Formats: sequence, C-alpha cells, structure tokens
Amino acid sequence: MLRLGFIGTGSLVEAVIGSLQRGASRQHRFYVSPRSQTRSASLAAGYANVERASSNAEVVERSDILFLGMRPQQLDDALVGLRFSPDQVIVSFLANTPRSLIASKVSPATHICRVMPTNAVKYRRGPVVMYPRDEVVEDIFRELGDLIVVDRESDLTAVSQASAVMSSHFKLQNTVVEWLLSRGVAQSTAAAYVRSMFRGFAELTAETSRARELLIPEDYETKGGLNERGRRYLEEAGWFEHLTRTLDAIETHLVLKPSTVAGPMANGDESTAQSAATTENSCK
Ligand SMILES: NC(=O)c1ccc[n+]([C@@H]2O[C@H](COP(=O)([O-])OP(=O)(O)OC[C@H]3O[C@@H](n4cnc5c(N)ncnc54)[C@H](OP(=O)(O)O)[C@@H]3O)[C@@H](O)[C@H]2O)c1
Repeated sequence: MLRLGFIGTGSLVEAVIGSLQRGASRQHRFYVSPRSQTRSASLAAGYANVERASSNAEVVERSDILFLGMRPQQLDDALVGLRFSPDQVIVSFLANTPRSLIASKVSPATHICRVMPTNAVKYRRGPVVMYPRDEVVEDIFRELGDLIVVDRESDLTAVSQASAVMSSHFKLQNTVVEWLLSRGVAQSTAAAYVRSMFRGFAELTAETSRARELLIPEDYETKGGLNERGRRYLEEAGWFEHLTRTLDAIETHLVLKPSTVAGPMANGDESTAQSAATTENSCK
C-alpha cells in the first residue's frame, strides 16, 4: 500500500484518481490538497480511501509519492513553505516544465518523474508518456492508458507539443458532421457515424503500431476511389504541410516564451513555465 499525495486537485487529477480507483491502485491511500475545494471534497466523499488534507503541507507530510497537479504558473504559490524529504518521489504533470525547474523547488527530494497523460486518461485510454523510467510510478500509470517511457526529456517535450492537435482533431470531426447536416442527414445519424468512424480508424492505426508496421495511407485507398481523391485534394491544397508548420509554430512559441510563467492554460496544452527547450537537456 502506497500513500499517494496530490497537490492541485484539478480536472486532470480528478480524472487520474477516478481512473486509479478502477484498478489495482485502489489499494493505495490518497491524500488530496484542499484546492480545488469542490473537486477535492467530491473525491473524498466518493472514495473511502481518499482524504482531503487541511493544507498542502499535510499532503506532503503524509505521502510517499507526491503528484503535482497545479498549472505551471501556480507552482510557486502551491509549494511555498513545503518541506519535502529526500526519499519522496515527485511526479509532475506540469506541461513544458522541466525537471530541473521542479528539482529546484522540491529539494532535498531528487527523485522526479514527469508524466504526461491526455484528457482520455479519464477512460483509461490514450498515451501516458513518462520520463525517466521508474518502476513504482510505471506500475501506477500502466493501467491508465498506453504507457510510453521515453529515454530523453526532450522526447517528452516534443510529444506534449504534438498533443496540440487534439482540439483540431475534434474540429475536423465536427466539420464532417456539419457537412453531413448540410446534406440533410439528421444530427444523431451524422454524429453517430462520424464518432464511430474515427473510433474505428483509431483501432486500425493502433493495430499497425502494435504490429510495428508503418501506416501507409495508400494501402487503405481504392485506386481512383473516394479516399485517394480526398487525400490528393488536401495534399495539393498544402493541408498536411500546414499541419507540420502548425506544430513548428507551437514549438517555436513555447521556446520563445519568457522565463516567467504566463499565458492561459488548460488541458496540458499551455505555454511553458520557462524556456524549456533550452534547459531540459541538462536535467538529470
Ligand atoms: N488536463 C489535462 O488533460 C492535462 C494533460 C497533461 C498535463 N496536464 C497538466 O496538469 C496540470 C493541471 O491541469 P488541469 O487541466 O487539471 O488544470 P486545473 O483544472 O486548473 O487544475 C489546477 C488545480 O490546481 C489547484 N491549485 C491552484 N493553486 C493551488 C495552490 N496554491 N495549492 C494547491 N492547489 C492549487 C487549482 O485549485 P483552484 O481551482 O482552487 O484554483 C486546481 O484544482 C497542468 O500543469 C497541466 O499542464 C493536464
């Protein structure tokens, strides 16, 4: 039995705890920070093994593993005056916040892991990227999605930036739904069709990955058929190159951010806590 402490009980932590309660981790004890008030109170009311601490300091005192679930710009306030111990493991969910920065705030604790799930963790689905390797932390997150342990912190940074396609993917789906509506298809039919189609595609692509095969779009097209025409049209319109340039722009925006924490954030796709790319390769 482990004692898991969460400082910053926001939407991600709520999803993580809810998902952990559906697996082997339900044997652990959970301590949540008093903020957010509503979420921490509701978790404590919902699960017998979750306790709402009276302060962040109490969470630190009572936990073996501490999860940082606040937004990067809230980090300093949340950790002020807290006393960590050298044997505590720190798991940071903070996007674009290097280990070196976390290390400077949680000393003398030195054992720091970064874990980057997506919103799909709520359904125990999607990637959960982690750096560096740690068996105990891996055991906790293995059940919550496709655990990917990377060898370099810069890989974790890059995949976090790639997650910026999430809402665009939703927009793409909605555009197809709207097109169907414009052709007189009922909303329920259009939505059911499009959501199910993309879910099926996700399974297909996951299978190629499991089989370590390349995903070759042409293999899924009929010569001269609808898909070939659609892909070629988008290619000629520069659509896919634009996607690459969008990711380049996201990366550049993050690198160019000033070292102070700023910017609106949600869902892990926020601006960086500091100029991450310049410092993270030097992280231990
Ligand atoms: N959401 C995702 O899918 C996702 C994915 C990957 C990574 N992340 C990362 O996870 C972190 C949280 O994201 P989120 O979407 O869950 O944000 P969120 O809902 O805004 O959660 C932040 C939480 O931190 C609390 N907090 C703020 N200041 C605090 C303090 N001084 N002491 C204790 N708690 C404090 C907030 O409480 P109040 O409500 O009282 O202010 C809130 O509950 C971010 O760093 C983000 O980069 C999120």
